[in-house]
Amino acid sequence: MSLLILGIESSCDETGVALVRSTGDAVPTLLSHALHSQIEMHQAYGGVVPELASRDHIRRVLPLAQEVLAESGQTLADVDVVAYTRGPGLAGALLVGAGVACALGAALDKPVLGVHHLEGHLLSPFLSADPPEFPFVALLVSGGHTQLMRVDGVGRYQILGETIDDAAGEAFDKSAKLMGLGYPGGPALSRLAEEGSATAFKLPRPLLHSGDLDFSFAGLKTAVLTQAKKLGDELEARKADLAASTEAAIVEVLVKKTLAALKQTGLKRVVVAGGVGANRHLRAQLNAACAAAKVRVHYPELHLCTDNGAMIAMAAAMRLQAGQQQANTDYAFDVKPR
Ligand code: KG4
Ligand code: ZN
Repeated sequence: MSLLILGIESSCDETGVALVRSTGDAVPTLLSHALHSQIEMHQAYGGVVPELASRDHIRRVLPLAQEVLAESGQTLADVDVVAYTRGPGLAGALLVGAGVACALGAALDKPVLGVHHLEGHLLSPFLSADPPEFPFVALLVSGGHTQLMRVDGVGRYQILGETIDDAAGEAFDKSAKLMGLGYPGGPALSRLAEEGSATAFKLPRPLLHSGDLDFSFAGLKTAVLTQAKKLGDELEARKADLAASTEAAIVEVLVKKTLAALKQTGLKRVVVAGGVGANRHLRAQLNAACAAAKVRVHYPELHLCTDNGAMIAMAAAMRLQAGQQQANTDYAFDVKPR
């Protein structure tokens, strides 16, 4: 059976729309995807303004849908299932994607399917030319979540460890903010870090030797703040060093815990997903560690690490193929911000 799935992502500050083709049991294929980032709009405020995000999603979502349909030579009438991000995310932003998806579904007389945003990230490496095989360990590192999981198949997820306070992306963003690097902080801090020394400042590696697979990043942020205050007027000149030292601390914990998860599960394959998965230093360190441990690493393509519609269409396609979830036609959409 062949299904054309239209996916809509609107959980935060990116509007993403994509078309994925699911045929039989084969890995679904991405036909086209389009993205509008609101970063510039929110930059003036130093972070995402929820009300502005919702309004912009409303403006962008249908033109983006038209774009992906035109690009792949399809029409709305060809769409078999409309998928959307059900949560977690900003409530008003989620409601835009859910509302548009359900309206399209009702008008086309086609079913809709709400997708968990993190499952979208988790399955995004299947959009790459060299998709992973189950089972694998997943390191999910986004702005709101940091988790290690054992993944045995679609919908068969076991959490091995997670952050007890801030997420890794939050650690990047908050550290960047207190260094005056603006929003979004992760990529900015990472760029600056390339000009600095990772050993310039001694920063904590929280829970590194805790013996479990949990993470904690709140203390690191405080240590960065303390260091920045101590530097005072010197901060400007030492910013690159502080950025490099911060990045090194976050990355070391992520890499070592991921290797511990591989050891614990005995698995020889790891998938990295979520915005922080775009971090170059993380990729380099993890690649080196995994090569030494004879472990295969899979990443989503760089441009699909952060939020996008392709991962939502892909997760819906894989859920349907696995019989894990049925698309529904009651159109009584709800969203799950948390
Ligand atoms: O997955 P994502 O796009 O959105 C959420 O679901 O949260 O992740 C966004 C997070 C932000 O914290 C951002 O600063 C971080 O990913 N990020 C990075 C990089 N690119 C994005 N952090 C470090 N280095 C990067 N290159
Ligand atoms: Zn995300």
